[in-house]
Amino acid sequence: MQKKFYITTPIYYVNDVPHIGHVYSTVAADVLARWHRMQGDAVYFVTGTDENAQKNAEVALRQRTGDSVQGTDREVVQRYVDTMSAKWQMTWDELGFSNDDFIRTTEARHIAGVNTFFIAVQKRGDIYKGKYVGLYCTGCEAYVVESDLVDGKCSLHKKEPKKLEEENYFFRASKYKQQLLDHIASHPEFVEPQSRRNEIIQYIKHHFDDFSISRTALSWGIPVPGDPSQVLYVWFDALLNYCTAVGYGTDEMKFKKFWPADVHLVGKDIIKFHCALWPAMLLSAGLPLPKAVFAHGFFTINGQKISKSLGNAIDPVDLVKKYSIDAVRYFLLREIPFGEDGDFSLARLQERYNADLANGIGNLTARVVTLAEKFKVSVKGGSASGGERHLLREKAQDTWRVYEKAIAEYRFHDALAAVWDFSTSCDGYIEEKKLWTLKGDEAVAVIAPLLEALRHIAWWLWPVMPTTAERIFDQLGILDAVRKQSLQEAKKWGNAQFAVKKGQSLFPRLTS
Ligand code: MSP
Repeated sequence: MQKKFYITTPIYYVNDVPHIGHVYSTVAADVLARWHRMQGDAVYFVTGTDENAQKNAEVALRQRTGDSVQGTDREVVQRYVDTMSAKWQMTWDELGFSNDDFIRTTEARHIAGVNTFFIAVQKRGDIYKGKYVGLYCTGCEAYVVESDLVDGKCSLHKKEPKKLEEENYFFRASKYKQQLLDHIASHPEFVEPQSRRNEIIQYIKHHFDDFSISRTALSWGIPVPGDPSQVLYVWFDALLNYCTAVGYGTDEMKFKKFWPADVHLVGKDIIKFHCALWPAMLLSAGLPLPKAVFAHGFFTINGQKISKSLGNAIDPVDLVKKYSIDAVRYFLLREIPFGEDGDFSLARLQERYNADLANGIGNLTARVVTLAEKFKVSVKGGSASGGERHLLREKAQDTWRVYEKAIAEYRFHDALAAVWDFSTSCDGYIEEKKLWTLKGDEAVAVIAPLLEALRHIAWWLWPVMPTTAERIFDQLGILDAVRKQSLQEAKKWGNAQFAVKKGQSLFPRLTS
């Protein structure tokens, strides 16, 4: 039976346009989605926008000037989130993400699901009214305590949190504390990477308590079912996108097919919401828990936090115009081990572009294809690709093993390193055989396995650098039907036919 694979990114706040940090989570999810499609899985890949947050409303209303923006506050904010969400969707389209869905939390299907969910939790007896007295950071859209602050300010947003004293609805999260700890203990893959697991366990043990899930003073947000004088706390609505996108409350068949999610990819900043609040909510509603939450690290730009005020929030579309989307995807996943923090620098991107792409894979492809054309190498059914014990064949088999294991463990940088290692072996093989000195059949016998090697490289690159993979396939003359074959077939050495046709350079060298 066909396996399903449901993967999500965080849904993004629309108080600003996307920056390279947001692209990072989405690229990683896109790679996994493509990889699972290659394996023949029924993939559902969801991303989207988180629109009911207070900070979105604040920006929308701040931008309202003179008569230019007519209407009530709600109308102004709605128009703002419509415009911004469209910008996010357009950017994601320009970057070529293969998401199957783009969910917006202001959509009717989401609001319907949130209502159904709230009622289920209420029926469980897990919602009660109480007084919330405490601090709230709008930047984080989170309740904070004194110990989270530095000099009275949120360490992330450098702003004093607001003091709240409100009669709110509370979610009885504490009831699920032990169940959560037991689940994490018996499902170590639930929180990944492992280094985050302990952080979550300590958090649940010592800080996880009942949660205020509504706000009285706000007019923007989803009204609390049965009490429109309050709106739902944004996380209690946003997390539900993972269920509502696959039909919770609106399309039970679809929900049954895809839920639970196979993995939620998130940044480390929001892991507590995903590994404590979210599973507690699901336990209360009697729904299965996601299989895994993977938290990647944060990166800085030239050593500094990405921030609008510092003016370093690189526009992903500009970056892609200069380097190509595949180079950016490659760099993001190759440079920083997924799960760790790292630094993004344009100088490093340029370096890697020239070394790994222009001189590396790009050069190897051009070299092999040029020689294959020159010697009119056509390989039918792999008869000339070197036989059972060929050095490159053995190396390719090893590379498949390392690559697959690395991707399954979210070690994209290791998967890519293995591919580049293989490509270095191909260069070494050319040198060793002194290919440029060979003639006739001798040359053909050396070039044919290199064509086969390039075909394998293209398969490995496909999830990470889809356009590059296609361009290599084009130059090798691999037919469309073959590109769609199963991974089992693709992995076989000497199983393809080539009709080589040199194309343009994959990665022209950049000088500035
Ligand atoms: N709306 C919430 C998530 C709700 S999910 C139910 C949110 N949105 S966000 O717009 O602030 O973006 C969140 C995600 O963007 C982070 O979790 C992370 O995945 C990604 N990143 C934002 N800045 C980043 C870096 N500087 N580095 C790496 N990832 C970054 O939180």
